[in-house]
Amino acid sequence: MAYNLLKGKKGIIFGALNDLSIAWKVAERAVEEGAEIVLTNTEISLRMGELTKLAQRCNAPIIAADATKVEDLEQLVDKAMEHFGGKFDFVLHSVGMSPNIRKNIPYQSLNYTFLDRTLDISAVSFHKVLQVLYAKDALNEWGSVVALTYMAAQRTFIGYSDMADAKALLESVARSFGAIYGRDRKVRVNTLSQSPTYTTAGKGIAGMSGMLEFAEAMSPLGNADAADCADYCITLFSDLTRKVTMQNLYHDGGFSSMGLSEELFNKFTNNKEAE
Ligand SMILES: NC(=O)c1ccc[n+]([C@@H]2O[C@H](COP(=O)([O-])OP(=O)(O)OC[C@H]3O[C@@H](n4cnc5c(N)ncnc54)[C@H](O)[C@@H]3O)[C@@H](O)[C@H]2O)c1
Repeated sequence: MAYNLLKGKKGIIFGALNDLSIAWKVAERAVEEGAEIVLTNTEISLRMGELTKLAQRCNAPIIAADATKVEDLEQLVDKAMEHFGGKFDFVLHSVGMSPNIRKNIPYQSLNYTFLDRTLDISAVSFHKVLQVLYAKDALNEWGSVVALTYMAAQRTFIGYSDMADAKALLESVARSFGAIYGRDRKVRVNTLSQSPTYTTAGKGIAGMSGMLEFAEAMSPLGNADAADCADYCITLFSDLTRKVTMQNLYHDGGFSSMGLSEELFNKFTNNKEAE
């Protein structure tokens, strides 16, 4: 159902790779809610060609940018402002990658060159995006910037490795920049902490299907999927959340407040009794 929550709003969406991507669903929902959007991703991911389908459906231009390169981000923001005919209202940062995880290097043996890359792509890039937006005064008052994160920033999840450190930094950037952007331009900055979700990045985490099953069994409302995440993002871009800033917002069916669910309790108790 569409409510026209983003009627007249314009924004940039980073990180749609294919139709599993969370950003893909956010792009579709944003347009459904009346927004005009610009899509961006790296040159390499664009060569896969899937994003063109989304761009056509959303009537959106694609502007290539590596989120770790300030020059790329400057060009992206300039071109987006040209396209929109001025300032815009929202940005989704849906960007993450760990070469250590990709190469199955365990946390106790991290390659530090790879760690630098993980932090740059998955966290410092958020600062770079915000810094470029701020320097160019590209966002309207009451604009909204959202980055996607995961609860491994607060609690340890085996297999999430250096991405946990990147997410902790990402969430900290949202608070630190949010204070400045709110004070100076009335722009809000938040992170949305999403349930494990079956996407290309998600599949890269060791034991992802087990993690999904565990989180599903622990969460009173079940896991939030990519479409649910898109709905939440829309509310954060809309005027209904204008005083929400510098927050890490859990979107996880209740997982983050649980200790033990009945389902898991029964599973372990029954197993013990059967021994
Ligand atoms: N899938 C999950 O379980 C889950 C859970 C919580 C949070 N998240 C976060 O959601 C975000 C989106 O991930 P996803 O699960 O939709 O997977 P995805 O693989 O579809 O998206 C990751 C995106 O990051 C892009 N990217 C990588 N390096 C980049 C760079 N240098 N510059 C610009 N873009 C770059 C990729 O091209 C890709 O589009 C990530 O921040 C991820 O950590 C995912």
